[in-house]
Amino acid sequence: MNKDLLTINELTAEDIGRILDRSAWLKKALKDGVTHHPLKGKSLGMIFEKSSTRTRVSFEVGMYQLGGQALFLSSQDLQMGRGEPVADTARTLSRYLDGIMIRTFGQKIVEELARHAAIPVINGLTDLHHPCQALADIFTIREKRGALAGLRFCYVGDGNNMAHSLIEACVKTGMHVALACPAGYEPDAGIMRQARQVAAETGAELTLTGDPNKAARDADILYTDVWASMGQEQEHAQRVKAFAGFQINEKLLKAASPDVLVMHCLPAHRGEEITAGVIDGPHSVVFDQAENRLHAQKAVLELLMASK
Ligand code: CP
Ligand code: NVA
Repeated sequence: MNKDLLTINELTAEDIGRILDRSAWLKKALKDGVTHHPLKGKSLGMIFEKSSTRTRVSFEVGMYQLGGQALFLSSQDLQMGRGEPVADTARTLSRYLDGIMIRTFGQKIVEELARHAAIPVINGLTDLHHPCQALADIFTIREKRGALAGLRFCYVGDGNNMAHSLIEACVKTGMHVALACPAGYEPDAGIMRQARQVAAETGAELTLTGDPNKAARDADILYTDVWASMGQEQEHAQRVKAFAGFQINEKLLKAASPDVLVMHCLPAHRGEEITAGVIDGPHSVVFDQAENRLHAQKAVLELLMASK
């Protein structure tokens, strides 16, 4: 694996396989009460420029369970928030810490931090990517379905950070991806281009349509995310109009496979991108996804930070 985890695309299929296998091992070890402290004495700094429930708590608890500790660093309190260069922050934190997790706006900030840090940097969400969530999600799918290649993955909604990391994770593991996005809210063209190249190698199909019913046909997984992401709050009203019809609801479920898994990274807005009946219904695995953030990130932390 590389020094950092900034996007899914930079992982090889072997890296992903190792992370998923290790996630399963760590999950079982935790449930069996096995003490496992490969990060004893190590510290992870967690820089947050946006809100978080799952990412913050799962990284902090994960470090503790691996024998290390985590420091919550709000950008409001860091000198970075007052204009200290990202590069200087990276060089300084590298003198104290063994790893950095960062949630911020621009992907460029994460890249700059990683370039100047001597220690691993993990992307905990940017406007463009959310690799930790995508890893937990494909781990959840593998747990439920046994294998990934050949499954039909349908994403309905905004072509956002979540869509980008899921597209990359799915095509790399040979899953077929059907996206349904409103006009003007399609995924990043560069990420789609790269994903098409990966798909050609793995045999995955990748399609993009404006018709959720078409995309959902025979889907093994139906996935959605919020219509307005963090930082887009002022666009909410306009997005509610644009995304009408791009909802995972009881009717859309009928187009999918009878044992479809319904997924959402959370937080969810019931009545917008998904109905309460579906997210709280029998097909939903959203809290397994949330739990698996812990196990998948522990695998990443161990692979990047142990004995380094
Ligand atoms: N899914 C996710 O990243 O949740 P948080 O924003 O609560 O961390
Ligand atoms: N797309 C969402 C994901 C939240 C975990 C956001 O960026 O706000």
